[in-house]
Amino acid sequence: MTTELITGIGELTTNDGARRLDAAVVVDTDSGLIAWVGSASEAPAADTRFDAAGRAVLPGWVDSHLHPVFAGERGAEFEARMRGEKYRAGGIASTVAATRAASDAELEESLVRLLHEASAQGSTAFEAKTGYGLDVETERRSAEIAARHVDSVTFLGAHLVPPGMSVRVYLDQVTGPMLAAVLPFVSSIDVFCETGAFDVEQSREVLAAGRAAGLALRVHGNQLGESGGVGLALEMEALSVDHCNHLSSSDIDGLGAGRTVATLLPACDLSTREPFPPARALLDAGATIALASNCNPGTSYTTSIPFCIATAVLQMGLTVEEAIRAATVGGAAALGVPGVTGTIAVGARADLQLLDAPSAAHLAYRPGVPLVRRVWKRGVVVAGGGGGS
Ligand code: NIG
Repeated sequence: MTTELITGIGELTTNDGARRLDAAVVVDTDSGLIAWVGSASEAPAADTRFDAAGRAVLPGWVDSHLHPVFAGERGAEFEARMRGEKYRAGGIASTVAATRAASDAELEESLVRLLHEASAQGSTAFEAKTGYGLDVETERRSAEIAARHVDSVTFLGAHLVPPGMSVRVYLDQVTGPMLAAVLPFVSSIDVFCETGAFDVEQSREVLAAGRAAGLALRVHGNQLGESGGVGLALEMEALSVDHCNHLSSSDIDGLGAGRTVATLLPACDLSTREPFPPARALLDAGATIALASNCNPGTSYTTSIPFCIATAVLQMGLTVEEAIRAATVGGAAALGVPGVTGTIAVGARADLQLLDAPSAAHLAYRPGVPLVRRVWKRGVVVAGGGGGS
């Protein structure tokens, strides 16, 4: 076993109890797991030592909602929105055209660039959706490329009906040959249940086909209105329902009572000028919430979970602790990948980050400041190789 001792930690957020002061962590760089957690004075000997010099250490972010396999960008659409135009599902089609035209190498290079950008901001585990191919070959290519780089790939063939095709013909394709083509690479299926995309009945059909193929279920629900997506996600016991901007009180109660994670996407809400989801009411009802970047070229072209945390605290009424928990433990619950826990605990994957700050509160207290100084993924430094002091 080769070990690294991270010591001199000013504030350690473990997510398995109280924050610890003057803490230390030992990571096993061979297995990529955390080997020991405790106070610095009791730390065991290790092969190498890193001095955090009083800075805060916390789990890496678990980003459980991204659409990172695409080509092109939609800055003009964003500018139009900022001039007052409303976001509509149909904008997806322009990214579809660019993605179909891109080579595998171009798609992979763009995906890797986004994941590096995210890693430098503390993200250590990722979901990735397909959904900008919308034909059998481009969906398969997207899934295969994503599977080489992320922890969990989601099939989102049901993102939009491609222009010029009937819903019936397209649904038969999604639930038939497209699903079969992506199946070796994906672990869940998603559907955009919204006006302009798929209604509840059509969404149920997509999810049922995914379930029959052994996939976990996700729903893009209640983003632009009360689409029924949350009710469907609860009915079908989906792993997560994402967006949740427009919730009825029965949606909130259902999420509080059920196991489906409510994944909230604050960067997207800002970029589409949708009302923020009722995060406080969800927590008070007992729901598990996740915070995720929703990185995509249409509604949320950011990889920054620190930005999402600051927004959730400053605009959505979460405490710093709640927001961090949602972007770590909550994200892990939504991701559903064994070993990715969002905690710093013995046996957990050694995914950690060091902030250039004495406490995690600085993530919201100093919004927009690049505070992530060093990131370990599976015990290996993946960003910020600089020294500890
Ligand atoms: O999660 N809502 C649906 N899908 C993406 C947006 C995709 C796009 O506009 O390109 C989202 O916001």
